[in-house]
Amino acid sequence: MGLNPNFLWGGATAANQTEGGYDLGNRGLANVDLLPTGKDRAGVSAGKIKMLEFDDQHFYPAKEAIDMYHHYFEDIKLFAEMGFKTYRMSISWSRIFPNGDDEQPNEEGLRFYENVFLELRKYNIEPLVTLTHFDVPVNLIKKYGSWRNRKMIDFYEQYCRTAFNRYKGLVKYWLTFNEVNMILHAPFIGAGLCFEPDENEEQVKYQAMHHQLVASAIATKIAHEVDPENKIGCMLAGGNNYPYSCRPEDYAKAIEKDRENYLFIDIQSRGAYPNYAFKKFARENIQIEMKQGDQEILKQYTVDFISFSYYSSRVVATDSSVTNETAGNIYKSIKNPYLESSEWGWQIDPLGLRSALNVLYDRYQKPLFIVENGLGAVDTPDENGYVEDDYRIDYLREHIKAFKAAAEEDGVELMGYTTWGCIDLVSAGSGEMSKRYGFIYVDRDDEGKGTLKRSKKKSFYWYQKVIESNGEDL
Ligand code: BG6
Repeated sequence: MGLNPNFLWGGATAANQTEGGYDLGNRGLANVDLLPTGKDRAGVSAGKIKMLEFDDQHFYPAKEAIDMYHHYFEDIKLFAEMGFKTYRMSISWSRIFPNGDDEQPNEEGLRFYENVFLELRKYNIEPLVTLTHFDVPVNLIKKYGSWRNRKMIDFYEQYCRTAFNRYKGLVKYWLTFNEVNMILHAPFIGAGLCFEPDENEEQVKYQAMHHQLVASAIATKIAHEVDPENKIGCMLAGGNNYPYSCRPEDYAKAIEKDRENYLFIDIQSRGAYPNYAFKKFARENIQIEMKQGDQEILKQYTVDFISFSYYSSRVVATDSSVTNETAGNIYKSIKNPYLESSEWGWQIDPLGLRSALNVLYDRYQKPLFIVENGLGAVDTPDENGYVEDDYRIDYLREHIKAFKAAAEEDGVELMGYTTWGCIDLVSAGSGEMSKRYGFIYVDRDDEGKGTLKRSKKKSFYWYQKVIESNGEDL
């Protein structure tokens, strides 16, 4: 019993939510820089409000974020003090290729990440690197319409090849696209897509999805060619759909809704479009243009492992009188009367994590990696920046118990666990700083004011103990 002694404990972040330095080191502008706080954020994220330049009316929190660009030495030292075995982070594409279609990579950007990886290695922390955590260089959006255009596959290939070659020996675990199913729900964040008023959005999204999936398979191929030690994962915004009632219609709807998400992983892991997808496309008149050889590429270069984020389960109902909705990761859900919610309305369901692990393992039979999980909450620090965050500890403890049960009692193969936002960062959904996930408090507020000082919360010491005991001391 007990978790594998090589279990990868750690934390996760993304470049656009931590790094800042948006215009430093020759970095180019990316879609994620242009997400403002406030009421327009949802419209921009969904591609309904076109925002490809900064304006004076909005505040753009990713510009500085928590300035990890200048603080990474200090931050990594704190991760090491907690005993991290791994640290999940992302590379900002436009730091490496500022315009996306440049002939040569930007040396300053490449060097920046090399230094970060070297620093992690100094503490024996294994980097787990997301190649695109929602980034698309703005130039590629303006010039080519982003992932709706097949040319993106070549630009992405060039970027990945550059990263794999440069970081050979430093990085072994890679994820191709963060929350690859995000494209259906927030297509500007997920894939840099903006829509024209009369456009068939579903058609555009699924075509862009196809390009991303082919690009992901090509990246997998190259990663293995560059270094057979490389392990490539896909990344799903996870959480199963429960039927609201035991009406057969509700159960059938839950299956259908889950497939909306599995579609991506079915292709990335099993290597082919499932029949239900072709039927759906025919029914909804979605025509995916594929090139000769695409299906072969998808078949041949499947992922080595399946990673996913888990914050909550979801609920679907067919009875139209059930309308009680609540917020959740990437889209809303019917409220589950059996669950409590976070301050942001996200429902808390640790057992749902065990179920999600079992369903994914049954379906794919590949090692799983939980690369995001956590509680976004308002913290109130004392004068030293210390936060008594028992609510966060409780949340994480219950989720750890759940995945331990999946591994130890159900036999699910689990590689590791990285909590989301191990250091406070900018929220992807709202742009707020006040939605905090971290073990480390960062003094910065929703308007970008604060000293950026880092301090340890109570959960910092708790997680240190959890890692030290390999999850036995909770
Ligand atoms: C996931 C993303 O959707 O959830 C992260 O991969 C994001 O980037 C996280 O931050 C939590 O969502 P939010 O909206 O609370 O930041």
